[in-house]
Amino acid sequence: MDKKTDYQRYTVTSALPYANGPIHIGHLAGVYIPADIYVRFLRMNGADVIFIGGSDEHGVPITIKALQQGVTPQDIVDRYHGIIKKSFEDFGISFDIYSRTSNKVHHETASAFFRKMYEAGQFIEKVSQQYFDEETGHFLADRYITGTCPHCGYDKAYGDQCEKCGTSLNATDLIHPKSVLSGNQPILKETRHWFLPLDQYEPWLREWIIEGHKDDWKPNVYGQCKSWIDQGLQPRAVTRDLDWGVKVPIEGADGKVLYVWFDAPIGYISATRELTPDWEKYWKDKQTKLVHFIGKDNIVFHCIIFPAMLKGEGTFIMPDNVPANEFLNLEGEKISTSRNWAVWLHEYLEDFPDKQDVLRYVLTSAAPETKDNDFTWKDFQARNNSELVAILGNFINRTMVLTHKYFEGKVPVVDLFNESDSVVLEEMRQIPVRISISLHSYRFREGLSEMMNLARLGNKYLTDNEPWKLFSTNPARVGTILNLSLQICALLTITGEPFLPFSMKKVRQILNLPLFSWEDASKLDWLKPGHQLNPPELLFEKIEDPAIEAQVTKLIKTKEANEAAQLNLTVKPAKEVIQYEDFIKMDIRSGTILEAVKVPRTDKLLKLKIDTGLDQRIVVSGIAGFFKPEGIIGKRVCILMNLAPRILKGIESQGMILMAENPDGTLFFVTPDDGAINGADIK
Ligand code: 2FM
Ligand code: ZN
Repeated sequence: MDKKTDYQRYTVTSALPYANGPIHIGHLAGVYIPADIYVRFLRMNGADVIFIGGSDEHGVPITIKALQQGVTPQDIVDRYHGIIKKSFEDFGISFDIYSRTSNKVHHETASAFFRKMYEAGQFIEKVSQQYFDEETGHFLADRYITGTCPHCGYDKAYGDQCEKCGTSLNATDLIHPKSVLSGNQPILKETRHWFLPLDQYEPWLREWIIEGHKDDWKPNVYGQCKSWIDQGLQPRAVTRDLDWGVKVPIEGADGKVLYVWFDAPIGYISATRELTPDWEKYWKDKQTKLVHFIGKDNIVFHCIIFPAMLKGEGTFIMPDNVPANEFLNLEGEKISTSRNWAVWLHEYLEDFPDKQDVLRYVLTSAAPETKDNDFTWKDFQARNNSELVAILGNFINRTMVLTHKYFEGKVPVVDLFNESDSVVLEEMRQIPVRISISLHSYRFREGLSEMMNLARLGNKYLTDNEPWKLFSTNPARVGTILNLSLQICALLTITGEPFLPFSMKKVRQILNLPLFSWEDASKLDWLKPGHQLNPPELLFEKIEDPAIEAQVTKLIKTKEANEAAQLNLTVKPAKEVIQYEDFIKMDIRSGTILEAVKVPRTDKLLKLKIDTGLDQRIVVSGIAGFFKPEGIIGKRVCILMNLAPRILKGIESQGMILMAENPDGTLFFVTPDDGAINGADIK
């Protein structure tokens, strides 16, 4: 299939973040910075481009958060929509519109979209059994049900996934399912839903993706799509029993809303409608290139489900590319909102005000473009100090200081370009071309590295030519060297703009230049002789160790708090009250293990001989998974003596050893202090 290349305009979307928490560096690195670089670059090329963003304000996690906090879902999304929007503005993410899916235009757009498909008979209707909370009268979405994971025994697994062992679950897999709403055991009840028959789109998806995009989609994106399609696509429910979301716009669907992943991508279209009355050309004209920036967890929705919806609706274009990124980790661990393992953007700016570009730079350099990548504070410091400060900032500063020193801040004339100057000029011609190829191919790290090569080139040029040694003998040569160095600074304002917009704005102010177009990058004479420059200003400053140590300490504290919370949360609840008379019925003594052997043909049982002070007796104990027999001989223990004897694997067990059990199931002996003799009464 021939690839279309001559587009007239671009629609660039970036995943709509859920408005149930602030955003962190993972969001920025994976989606918004690459999208922003791409869009800024396109705009500099004079392209007709719209950049769409917004908050995804539906979905069960939002309703659960509201429930937990005793507020409405609207309260939750109002709060986070504001915080998220501000973070994007603060970091220069240059959306043409940042909208939200709880607004009217979106509800209308999503309803109309669903209705059109419904009326064209594009959905299958199915009745199925789903969990229902009889006390509250609600059908329970997967996240509204918890229970014990059948795989690992974790007792707070959700109806769609166990967060302890990571297994995907169906709500009906859970042992002892419980409704999050009432705490009661739910019943199964029939409910009707509408399904998108993805299986019917399979031949088309095969042709469009597997044959059509093998060579131009990223291998991670293509691979995921191919594996989904090859596994066979199933019809997917696009409605839910819930009262928060876009109401299902047909008769007899009371109490039902569109599934959040049905309405959210339509949010891109709604936002475009809000942005311009001329919205249709950005979504329906084949001359428009549609590009979705997302993280890898969104691939199936943007490459298979949403395109199937667009195809089913019938009037829309398909995405030309979906350059999804992998994940960014933080200090070697997966970023996690619930464990607060993240660098939150609003907190970063409190600690590093005016250092947006430093983060943009580090996150682009370490972007998880082809595989998961790691953000570390040490790397952040190193890239700031030895790249931004030592290479880019240093070059521009040296050039400015020297021009002010020798030429009163006026651009000097070129006397004569020698051979080494010509090599530099040729490189100046090539670098923007290479950056352009990288950015058109969504290789943002490569583009950034080329931009930095330009600053490296400038530094090397100054160092090789040493103008400070020549001024007394050859001021004309110094003029040439500084003119060429200043032209490199000017070229940096063009090539650096998509990546570091805050700093490049400053450089333009210092150079007293406007923002040029990308086409202007080939001019090579942006600064005319005699042009007055402004005084130099420091672009980047060194980040010292204490600032980095403070961030690392903050993360260590988070980790400690998480570990403590984890233990607390999973400690079993208190048992019901008993009377003293109940307690003293138990005859507990201190004793010593005299012998220990494994019970044959079991994994768990040890046969112990205990000196109880009164006698020596046999106890069979289920501790073999944690202790080796030879390691516990001589161990002081507490033994419940008057427990009725039981036969275990043919051995009579005459009592029970007391053990402490951690929430994760690990066992520890309860040991009497030194001085308590065998037979001492425990009470
Ligand atoms: O994964 C997420 O954060 C989703 N809220 C992304 C939605 S993207 C689009 F479809 F709206
Ligand atoms: Zn599990």
